[in-house]
Amino acid sequence: MPPENNSELFISEYTTEFVDRWDELIDWEKRCESEGGFFERILNDNGARTVLDIACGTGYHTVTLSLNGFQVTGSDGSANMVNKSQENAARMGLKDARFVEAQWTSLSEAFPGEKFNAIVCLGNAFTHLFGDDERRKALEGIYGLLNDGGVAVIDHRNYDTMLDKGFSSKHMYYYLGETVDARPKTITEDTVRLQYTYSDGSVHHLTVCPIRQDHLTELLRETGFQQVDRYGDFKPTYDLYDPDFIIQVAMK
Ligand SMILES: C[S@@+](CC[C@H](N)C(=O)[O-])C[C@H]1O[C@@H](n2cnc3c(N)ncnc32)[C@H](O)[C@@H]1O
Repeated sequence: MPPENNSELFISEYTTEFVDRWDELIDWEKRCESEGGFFERILNDNGARTVLDIACGTGYHTVTLSLNGFQVTGSDGSANMVNKSQENAARMGLKDARFVEAQWTSLSEAFPGEKFNAIVCLGNAFTHLFGDDERRKALEGIYGLLNDGGVAVIDHRNYDTMLDKGFSSKHMYYYLGETVDARPKTITEDTVRLQYTYSDGSVHHLTVCPIRQDHLTELLRETGFQQVDRYGDFKPTYDLYDPDFIIQVAMK
């Protein structure tokens, strides 16, 4: 089991080889189709123009939200991911896209004096944090960088299902590449080890912490967020165990 405060494990797991193949896992076109403009609607409904994407990864949301008219900064704690984002943004014609290497546990230092209308942390990224101390620190950083009335959007796999019923996937959302099989190799209450097997036989792993839906909602409320809305696979009404992914939208 990784130690409680293992905030840097992800850096060694996102190797250049894995990062180079992350987009094969996502499939940008299919992900865009499956989201159906959900995040753009949430941001527009909350009057957001400036957005900080703190888990930019290879840049999928930084790029797509920018192309949809939002003023987006991408950040990530993995230098490999930041480099890939820059490469992807340039390839997509966003010559001036801004990317910053930043850890969630030191967001206020990474963006001194800045405020955003919205902060997004997507793709099951937040579950790279182990333990409530780190989660609280990250959420306080997010809260501090938001304008009053701003919104934080954090998503995660449905760990309630994974922990209580075992793994299942409709393979309809988020990571839709056909050449990669993504599934947990081991599941415990503290740790999920995700295994990514590519069709050429190469295998990569990520270690994440299964957070339950109610627990994250509770932490968001404790941080000071006034209201937290939840969506299951992009729908506002859902059965606890049905969706593959949960999206939590927290208003400051
Ligand atoms: C599962 S990937 C998701 C990437 C992207 N949002 C997507 O949906 O494709 C998680 C991302 O979060 C970043 N990350 C994980 N822990 C972090 C931390 N403590 N601080 C900053 N970034 C972190 C990783 O480097 C990685 O790019």
